[in-house]
Amino acid sequence: MLLIFPDTSSIADYVSTALINTIKSKPRVVLGAATGGTMEPIYARFVNQVRQQQVDVSGLTSFNLDEYVGLSPDHPKSYAAYMHHHLFKHVGFDGARHHLPDGRATDLDAHCCEYSAKLQQHGGIDLQLLGVGGNGHIGFNEPGTAFDSRCHVVQLSERTRMDNSRFFAENAIVPASAITMGMQDIMDAREILLIATGEGKAPILAEYYQNDITEAIPLTILKRHPRAKIILDEAAASLLPNSVRQDFVTAEADC
Ligand code: F6R
Repeated sequence: MLLIFPDTSSIADYVSTALINTIKSKPRVVLGAATGGTMEPIYARFVNQVRQQQVDVSGLTSFNLDEYVGLSPDHPKSYAAYMHHHLFKHVGFDGARHHLPDGRATDLDAHCCEYSAKLQQHGGIDLQLLGVGGNGHIGFNEPGTAFDSRCHVVQLSERTRMDNSRFFAENAIVPASAITMGMQDIMDAREILLIATGEGKAPILAEYYQNDITEAIPLTILKRHPRAKIILDEAAASLLPNSVRQDFVTAEADC
């Protein structure tokens, strides 16, 4: 399902409300968490709504999609630090329930297996939040990643490292590799919300709709998921073919 919203603020409202409704109906929900610029306004809105509505989030378990290899959880650019800053330090989360890959694990491959196994032990993901890279990556599954992959170590593409350099200080080097949940881990989620905002994401969204399912564009795997919503602002939707826009479900109708 495709939903197009006027701006990032209305997307933040929609996704935050969806998260809260999910928690209310299943307090011990397992959330698949993403990081990156797209998620920042969403987490900010979620924290506000949790406060205002006094939602109990202590039963929520989360598994993050990815982490840079070599960064410890207290490194300011680690995704562990991101999650702490944007979510976990706020409003009553139980720290023991939140899981991220460990970018400093001594045996990375063994750690990846353990991470996928831990996810299975928790019964898998109820609701997965996803962003998308300009090259179509989801998690850090770069173009060409096998659709049956589980958690693994990935060499980040130059495109991804360049895109993410905006989060690092000048002269700081974006790590060359990362741990990511695999494509199959993501597809096992019972529900997926893929969010893309801004005109920089417009070309890859147009490619999504113009191409068949292909490992060359990881995002296209979502066409196979029975409960995946693609949530865009007008800027990210600006290059969609007219035929797609004609079919899209209006955000108002779905809200
Ligand atoms: C982050 C992640 C990535 C990002 C993607 C978009 O945990 O898995 O796939 O969602 O790189 O990043 P932003 O939102 O910064 O454009």
